[in-house]
Amino acid sequence: MNEQQRKEMSHIQQGEPADVKSDQDNLERLKDKSSEDFMKYFETTYQPPSLRKAQRRRKEDVQIHYDFKIPEDMEEAGNGRKYMIRTYGCQMNEHDTEVMAGIFEEMGYESTTDTKEADIILLNTCAIRENAENKVFGEIGHLKPLKLENPDLIIGICGCMSQEESVVNRILKKHPFIDLIFGTHNIHRLPQLVKEAMFGKEMVIDVWSKEGDIIENLPRSRKGKIKGWVNIMYGCDKFCTYCIVPYTRGKERSRLPEDIIQEVRHLAAQGYKEVTLLGQNVNAYGKDLEMNYGLGDLMDELRSIDIPRVRFTTSHPRDFDDRLIDVLAKGGNMLDHIHLPVQSGNSDILKIMGRKYSREEYLELVRKIRTAMPDATLTTDIIVGFPNETEEQFEDTLSLVEEVGFEAAYTFIYSPRDGTPAARMQDNVSMDVKKNRLHRLNEIVNRQAAESMKKYEGEIVEVLVEGESKKNKDVLAGYTKRNKMVNFRGPRSSIGRLVKVRITETKTWSLNGEMVEETAEVK
Ligand code: SAH
Ligand code: SF4
Ligand code: F3S
Repeated sequence: MNEQQRKEMSHIQQGEPADVKSDQDNLERLKDKSSEDFMKYFETTYQPPSLRKAQRRRKEDVQIHYDFKIPEDMEEAGNGRKYMIRTYGCQMNEHDTEVMAGIFEEMGYESTTDTKEADIILLNTCAIRENAENKVFGEIGHLKPLKLENPDLIIGICGCMSQEESVVNRILKKHPFIDLIFGTHNIHRLPQLVKEAMFGKEMVIDVWSKEGDIIENLPRSRKGKIKGWVNIMYGCDKFCTYCIVPYTRGKERSRLPEDIIQEVRHLAAQGYKEVTLLGQNVNAYGKDLEMNYGLGDLMDELRSIDIPRVRFTTSHPRDFDDRLIDVLAKGGNMLDHIHLPVQSGNSDILKIMGRKYSREEYLELVRKIRTAMPDATLTTDIIVGFPNETEEQFEDTLSLVEEVGFEAAYTFIYSPRDGTPAARMQDNVSMDVKKNRLHRLNEIVNRQAAESMKKYEGEIVEVLVEGESKKNKDVLAGYTKRNKMVNFRGPRSSIGRLVKVRITETKTWSLNGEMVEETAEVK
């Protein structure tokens, strides 16, 4: 670690958040207030969502509710009306969109993708990097003329950006035509919030700093009928120093195993062929339940459900235990693909990132996984240009990528996020250097991806057929168990089924082939 890094390290408040009660900043309704009252309210009593308070959370009992219901007076509020939701974030964010779509549809709304037709438009936002936020602010600008044309249109901002104080303040000041802002912990209040936005004169703001309870019986309008997402936990307690997620998604809280198993069974009964268990750090699943029951135990139970593929995302190397590796190695419906974000190949950088593992520990975990599952595909996430990252430290990342042989990687330029410890460090790697590092890293990743595809030439692989390829309607597309995309010619009747495909051509990110046969339902 160099001098500057050591200095920065002393600024970072590491470790678990202190045991201070985090309060629930559930904002008062602003209905019936004049504009003047409204502004006064914001200058005097308004409590924005607070990143500081989010960090000082303590273990509090999380309540599980099974009694979600659309309020009677909103049951038909959407009849003859249309909703549209734009999604900007990760799979969890997309799954939240499915829940909100489910709530809208229970209120009688129909979905549309045409902004001109919509009676309500929600932007389900992501705060992970600055460019994600810029996209949303760009879109807010585009929506303004629609609102001027149709004053009854309701425009709402939800998702991770709404949990940020600075974003809420910016919308209040610069985009007062927005009708509704709500965060990630209170999606279940959508019917009440829509009602307030419909009948109130002022912007409705309902953002909770305190993480929510778990609401079990929310409706869902799922995007597809073949692959389904299932939340197994919410929030993140890792507090990697660059990351906004623990602040926007609250503390880790796990769903009960029986509720998850029931949802997976239900999806299997409806004919779904694949489930992806979702969490920001799925390997921490169960820790908060104090039942001595973890992700390995859950996966073991899901092995016996009659659904061909079960996967999960995202893993954190620190919590990836031997029990899970043992269960995954049993095969069956367990997928042969592990996404294991490493972020950096240098132990000092990992330390100031707060990742809580070293390069050697990561490599040791990879070795264990490879011994137990020799065929597994490994993919990762990497950040380049973290504050003070030197050329040598970056080269450690390149050498680790080669040593592990990742078959794909999401690579990012570090983006300072307000309120995170890393944002207080000097962001002193120039943009030119960051771009150059990203480029060099991507060259290696692309080369390895292409090489990993080569070995499939002439092989027969099993593909879960998802539908037509995006580029060519005559071609079908799907994924193998090892997460390789395959494009092939075959009958449309094979959509939603597992088929065997002979690979005739390999590319960097996909395989081309021809269907050999439709397999029996494989478990
Ligand atoms: N929970 C997951 C990742 C969620 S965010 C995990 O821990 O692996 C997805 C990826 O975005 C991260 O893995 C990281 O590589 C990247 N990321 C997060 N914060 C970032 C930031 N401030 N700048 C650049 N990339 C970031
Ligand atoms: Fe962010 Fe993932 Fe770290 Fe959690 S574990 S703080 S989501 S990078
Ligand atoms: Fe983005 Fe929130 Fe997901 S910040 S990556 S949408 S958890």
